[in-house]
Amino acid sequence: MSIEGSLKKVTTQTVREAKLTGTRLTMLTAYDFTMARLLDRAGIDIFLVGDSLGMVIAGYETTLPVTVDQMIYHSSAVVRGTTRALVITDMPFMSYQVTAEEALINAGRIMKESGVSGVKLEGGKAVAATINKIVSAGIPVMGHLGLTPQSIHQFGSYKVRAKEKTEAEQLISDARALEAAGCFAIVLEKVPAQLAAQVTASLSIPTIGIGAGPSCDGQVLVSYDMLGLFTEFKPRFARRYDDLGSRIIESARRYADDVRNKKFPSAEESY
Ligand code: KIV
Repeated sequence: MSIEGSLKKVTTQTVREAKLTGTRLTMLTAYDFTMARLLDRAGIDIFLVGDSLGMVIAGYETTLPVTVDQMIYHSSAVVRGTTRALVITDMPFMSYQVTAEEALINAGRIMKESGVSGVKLEGGKAVAATINKIVSAGIPVMGHLGLTPQSIHQFGSYKVRAKEKTEAEQLISDARALEAAGCFAIVLEKVPAQLAAQVTASLSIPTIGIGAGPSCDGQVLVSYDMLGLFTEFKPRFARRYDDLGSRIIESARRYADDVRNKKFPSAEESY
């Protein structure tokens, strides 16, 4: 089943209902107006303005340097390019970890200045009270558990998380805490498929997996990975649906050849 056929705007309510009807949710990252317009035409349900933009757009090694202002800039461009999808923005590193008050101010700025419909935060019980404060102010929150990239220096690598019993149990109780705090959905990143299935079955809100197997209620990929635009590294879960990187290089080469050989512009392309 899919909600893609419907032209109705996707809301956090639609996302919650998808769990009840068994409708699989589709989510991709989007960082700009043009890409949002294209992905919206494809009927993708949710756009995540991910802080992965720090890596794939800005070329940083991690997501850590990304700022609230940068997220607002990209989010407002995505909102302008979107008619149907639900647009959610990642709260960047250190914009919500210090105090719940500061987190609420930053979440409020992101909502007011970009026009997105909610925010995403990484972490479990440690951020549950903060999430509850943000949700209580009327701001929808998506959670994010498992391999949470903002904690990369604590993890030490991008390996699969929660393979061991203790961490798996912690993840299950974190997921419950996020649901109780008011999250409308939770991203599960790079965790064993069986654990993701168990978490998905135990929650009344949808899980959206990335490297978390087929049992999640939806799937998310970084659009630049999925389209073959970002090829620095390729995680096993990141299925490539195109090789746009090679196609862009080829098109740029043909353009350069035409300019060098005086084949561009033609008379029809001139005034
Ligand atoms: O920033 C991002 O792109 C994300 C996805 C990997 C879920 O958080």
